Amino acid sequence: PGVRPLIAGNWKMHGTLRDAAALAEAVRAGAAGTGVELLVCPPFPYIHMVAAAMLGQRVAVGAQDCHAAAKGAHTGDVAAPMLADIGARYVILGHSERRADHAETDAAIRAKAEAALAAGLTPIICVGESEAQRLAGDAEAVVTAQLAGSLPEGFARAGGVVAYEPVWAIGTGRTPTEPDIAAIHAAIRADLVRRFGGAGEGLRILYGGSVKPANAAAILALPHVDGALVGGASLVAADFLAIAAAA
Ligand code: G3H
Repeated sequence: PGVRPLIAGNWKMHGTLRDAAALAEAVRAGAAGTGVELLVCPPFPYIHMVAAAMLGQRVAVGAQDCHAAAKGAHTGDVAAPMLADIGARYVILGHSERRADHAETDAAIRAKAEAALAAGLTPIICVGESEAQRLAGDAEAVVTAQLAGSLPEGFARAGGVVAYEPVWAIGTGRTPTEPDIAAIHAAIRADLVRRFGGAGEGLRILYGGSVKPANAAAILALPHVDGALVGGASLVAADFLAIAAAA
């Protein structure tokens, strides 16, 4: 209530240029009817094209990562100012796949978030426990520690976004129970308010992990769930738009 939901699609490492263009066009065409904010995050090579297609439209474009430095000798990396330059407005940081594939630490994610803020990008910082951590009863402690390590100064001022993604719910078709999602989101909210005062009340906390049209309405109705970070279902425009319609 009061916070405009954000429905973000993380396209991950999928599709051809032609697929990206078709998906972007279908999302653009369907966006008119929604009252929520829509965001698509294509793979790096397609961001420029998708951002151009979304110019003046109701769909924002973001990246899935950026480097912590604004420029320099970092072969194969992409700097935040480059992303801003080609029309990105958001950047997903610290996704569990990057934490796993690239050994990203909370400190590294914080440095990337600082670079994003300096470039005028809004960071979406991902946190979430593994299945073992959930079973051990440590989910809230893990998430709180990740927030402590990765949220930069200036995060609230820039309208930063937190995405809660339990690692075991990503791409598995499994989700936490609604009370479990609500409990973690309440803990994240409390942490944001402790850290940023009143500004923490208005920051968006997304849920991610097997969000589909069938479960979106129930999840998005939970307190402190201010949107969704959608993986697989964001690759099908009709599903992505159905999730947005449920918000
Ligand atoms: O960033 C998106 C998440 O990893 C969720 O992916 O919707 O395919 O489970 P999924």
